Amino acid sequence: MSELEIGIIGCGGMMGAHVHRGFKQLWEKGFRPFKIVACVDVNESAAQRMADEISQWQGLRPKVYTSVDEFIARETSVSAVDISLPHHEHHTVAVACLESGKNVLIEKPLAITMRAGKKILEAAKSRNLVLSVAENYRRAPHHRAVNWAIRQGRIGEPKQVYWVDVFERLWYWGWRDHLEFAGGGWTLDGGVHFADLMRYHVGEVVEVSAQIATFNPNRFRKVNEHQELVTATIEDTTQALLKFENGALGVWVEAITAPARQIGTRVIYGTEGAIDLNAGLFLRNQDNPIPFAQLQEEFMASLSESDKERLFPLGVMDDIAQEVHEFVTACLDNNPKVEIDGDEGYRSQAVCMAIYEAATLKQTISVADVMALKVEAYQRLLNERWQIS
Ligand SMILES: NC(=O)c1ccc[n+]([C@@H]2O[C@H](COP(=O)([O-])OP(=O)(O)OC[C@H]3O[C@@H](n4cnc5c(N)ncnc54)[C@H](O)[C@@H]3O)[C@@H](O)[C@H]2O)c1
Repeated sequence: MSELEIGIIGCGGMMGAHVHRGFKQLWEKGFRPFKIVACVDVNESAAQRMADEISQWQGLRPKVYTSVDEFIARETSVSAVDISLPHHEHHTVAVACLESGKNVLIEKPLAITMRAGKKILEAAKSRNLVLSVAENYRRAPHHRAVNWAIRQGRIGEPKQVYWVDVFERLWYWGWRDHLEFAGGGWTLDGGVHFADLMRYHVGEVVEVSAQIATFNPNRFRKVNEHQELVTATIEDTTQALLKFENGALGVWVEAITAPARQIGTRVIYGTEGAIDLNAGLFLRNQDNPIPFAQLQEEFMASLSESDKERLFPLGVMDDIAQEVHEFVTACLDNNPKVEIDGDEGYRSQAVCMAIYEAATLKQTISVADVMALKVEAYQRLLNERWQIS
């Protein structure tokens, strides 16, 4: 097998997970057809730290760059990049890398607006390059088992979704608390994972109506033993109604400034039963749910050897290691057909953006119209801010 030279761009929190749970774990399992040759971050010490860590298990120390342009200009033999940046930088960096012929693994959401996402899609498609969106949640054995159970008809036809996350976060989370850098609040940031899971388990979302609000913009960060107040500019509360292609209906709530009492309920109801993503599979006339451990065991036992190797290569159960493995393999094979490619990432992003558009326009919004850039009332300011035309 030839060796893939990889550059990692953005050496912050999530890249730490890509490196430790992904590249390093695969390396230790003996999967070594790759070499991380460059660490890029505008924060030089973050890039240096990451390069030090990688050199400990890889032997070779990656070169450090503080500019993506310089990295692209110098590292011409690098044919793959892993990008983990604040959302407003996804499209500029991904497009530049794709235009220089590099395959891309990029963190979710695909981009800060649909228009920006489309630019990434087009740059990848026109060059037939791999574009993989790091949508790891659905790869976890738990969600593979849920999906298998639903596809097997264990709950009948999926008809209702209740996805309600209510909690309070008062600590300041940097760029994520600012609309211009994040593109939206938790409904986009965490929510794009949830949109992906709903699409994976139930099917495409076709229509959305929604309300959003900001009830408490106060966040606090510790500065020299004092708590400094920062004003967030993202929304903190979303209540949305979803309609799925198969006729199923969903209620989706994300509320991050609800004090004192949490709600965490994620249940998919079918015509014959329900899957509670926290508790297991519930069937009519059965007192106790089938726990996930049992469901997962049944699912694993149902897999052929080739499916097992496809879903859990080298026996790796970690979702991030799986996505990195798939990306490296796809790059080596020059095969852009990955599970969560640009189109998949774009669809999940569109569900979240449809929520913001519906709330802005106070009307029901078609997700297809959001994907076709026919509805951009919410996104217009973001497009103007970052000159996305
Ligand atoms: N899949 C998941 O479960 C998951 C979890 C957390 C974050 N994420 C995603 O990962 C991405 C990054 O999030 P994070 O938490 O790691 O953020 P972070 O702030 O910890 O890291 C971002 C890094 O990018 C660097 N950076 C910013 N602009 C740059 C530029 N132009 N060139 C080079 N470096 C630049 C910053 O200095 C920082 O080190 C986001 O898309 C986020 O949504 C995904």
